[in-house]
Amino acid sequence: MPNLTVELLPGHKRGLFLSNPVLTASGTFGNGLEYAKVFDIQLLGAIVSKAITLRPRRGNAQPRIVETAAGMLNSIGLQNIGIEAILRDVAPLWATWRVPVIANIAGESIAHYAELARRLDGTPGVSGIEVNVSCPNVENGLEFGTDPKAASALTYAVRRETDMPLLVKLGPNVTDIVDIAAAVANSGADALTLINTFPAMRIDIQTRRPALGWGSGGLSGPALKPIALRMVYQVARSLDIPIVGCGGIVSAEDTIEFLMAGARAVQVGTATFRNPRAPLDIIEELEDLMRRQGVDDLQGIVGAALPARRESETVDAAASERLRQRL
Ligand code: FUM
Repeated sequence: MPNLTVELLPGHKRGLFLSNPVLTASGTFGNGLEYAKVFDIQLLGAIVSKAITLRPRRGNAQPRIVETAAGMLNSIGLQNIGIEAILRDVAPLWATWRVPVIANIAGESIAHYAELARRLDGTPGVSGIEVNVSCPNVENGLEFGTDPKAASALTYAVRRETDMPLLVKLGPNVTDIVDIAAAVANSGADALTLINTFPAMRIDIQTRRPALGWGSGGLSGPALKPIALRMVYQVARSLDIPIVGCGGIVSAEDTIEFLMAGARAVQVGTATFRNPRAPLDIIEELEDLMRRQGVDDLQGIVGAALPARRESETVDAAASERLRQRL
């Protein structure tokens, strides 16, 4: 049997052990409850929840989804039931599942994020926290993910509230992804999710107005894949932090590209809009592909495409530590 298991955070006190490297991406799988009625979600590597905020949110005006060539735009606006309902009604169900659930959190201030982490800390059914600093669909949704200092301060504040596995999800709309990734990595993140959607728009030529109710949205799907792959590669080449790749993955071949670029696992999102079983199909395809290629352990190919790292290419960890101490 090919080995698809992933120890995402080697050396972490609690760890995050996955039966395979295929997770669902936040915002594309609800909180897993509906899909649990459709197929065996326990076969997934992990589930990442819809972004959770302190208060329930109704989300943005409709329309909130439009198709594009090789992708789609969404501007959901963080619609969700809020932390209280998650802890009361949803986490107890997650606690009965074998598949790990990672809670994605979003806030309007550092205090919001810190409070969310505090309330989730140690919650049965929650195996980790993914900090969303890259939602392009709300006012200030990108504030903490585009400036290394702000990203560092936020990560540091969340880290202080929890020793659970902590992932930070970064977006592509930055000048230098390695700068932001280094700031986050050196402020206590255990792993990075790369990347969120890219801010984008469509115009409805009948109404002569933006096609999305909120004006713009986030581009996802295969159109995003080469950008995501490049960012995973760039970060993996420069930093020693586990990476979960995300962006346009629709097949086992896509997954393998991300692993070879340096990701240890991937998140599948937009593909589930066409085929709700896409993550499971990818897991099955991966097994088949490994058998055919004679690959026994999938983690053996992580980073296979990366050049040997030269000292001059690594980010100065001491400099990042100095930055953290100044905050
Ligand atoms: O609009 C949304 O809820 C999207 C969230 C995200 O991209 O993180």
